[in-house]
Amino acid sequence: MDRAERVMSAGSTRSFGYFTPYPLVFERGEGSVLYDVDGNRLIDFVCNGLSLIHGHAYPPVIAAVRTAMERGTAWPGTSEAQVAFAELLCSRLPGAEQVRFTNTGTEATMLAVKLARWATGRPLILKAVHAYHGSFDDLEAGLGGRGELPGRTLLARFGDIDHWRKKIAAHAAELAAVVIEPVLYTDNVVAPPPGFLPELAEAAREIGALVVLDDCLMFRLAPGGSAERFGFTADVTCLGKFIGGGLPVGVIGASAELMRSFDPRGPKPLYHGGSFNGNPLGAVAGRVALVDLTGERISRMNEQAEVLAEGIRRAGEAWGVRLTVTGEGSARGVYVLSADGSADTVRSRAYYLACINNGVYIGGGGEMAMSTTLGEDLVAEAVAGFGGAAEDVAAAHPALEKEST
Ligand SMILES: Cc1ncc(COP(=O)(O)O)c(C=O)c1O
Repeated sequence: MDRAERVMSAGSTRSFGYFTPYPLVFERGEGSVLYDVDGNRLIDFVCNGLSLIHGHAYPPVIAAVRTAMERGTAWPGTSEAQVAFAELLCSRLPGAEQVRFTNTGTEATMLAVKLARWATGRPLILKAVHAYHGSFDDLEAGLGGRGELPGRTLLARFGDIDHWRKKIAAHAAELAAVVIEPVLYTDNVVAPPPGFLPELAEAAREIGALVVLDDCLMFRLAPGGSAERFGFTADVTCLGKFIGGGLPVGVIGASAELMRSFDPRGPKPLYHGGSFNGNPLGAVAGRVALVDLTGERISRMNEQAEVLAEGIRRAGEAWGVRLTVTGEGSARGVYVLSADGSADTVRSRAYYLACINNGVYIGGGGEMAMSTTLGEDLVAEAVAGFGGAAEDVAAAHPALEKEST
């Protein structure tokens, strides 16, 4: 880290993942296990911010990429690999007749907003407070205490349908899109209340705004993603993260009619560039990852998440630490609560660091997700690690009490 700090601010190149006092420096990953340069072995529930659904160095992805790489890594036009991946995506993604490739989730959501504004001729988007959609300015409103952006972005409270309805009604003529992260994953992991997403989609459509679903993370919830899981359809679906099989890939999917906006043969086409869009490496890796993400594997990850959640709750009870597990399917959040039920940020952070000390790597905000390579042996080992972390937090109680006051 000393060497890193000389050439990168705080020795890092990404806001997510950095933590004090001793940030991790990684050496390699294998399946659901990560190793750092000090030789520590960690069971990985971060999965690079949920971008590795089949863990690290997934052999079928490596084999596909190795073969593709021999023939070149970036071509300026359409390729067989691109078409095959696009066909698979259209068959899996509800409401998507066509797709367009980008290189990240940030680019995908940015493109979806651009498309919605272009197609409707309206300027505003409406999103949830705390929802993270990547680092496009207009979609960063509502994060870290940032407010609405006049003329560009409106905010509403996740899960509060009446609040969304009010905002939609007040700005009906100017609203291009409602952008929604189906399960909030930043800050606290929050599942949507029953019926919230279908009702929201209907309210947006009533005034002619597009429903933009950011399924970068939650496409993991069902073979057709969160639209299938929660029973609604989107006009534009954004994918990223694991959709590239561990390589940088983003996708938007929509109806052929909406996607005609990009057709260069049209009278006034919407421009969308990107030197590496749909590159052959991402296309083959993504296709393999998606083929291998079967309904059966999704159910298994969900079951493992339940086993872990139960283990964490039990450890909390045993050691007198108010641990709670939130979330949906294989995407969870682990926190310590105060006596009044609010988040105990001091103990939640202590628990996070204690998890790392006990060989289980979760996100700094308590985020925790499964990958398909997590075996039963690792689940048992992780339950023990989560328990050890609860014991450590209990032992640190006097010091934490001081920190809290
Ligand atoms: C829901 C969601 N959308 C979009 C993004 C942005 O993806 P990327 O980091 O690939 O730009 C993220 C990243 O964490 C995300 O969680």
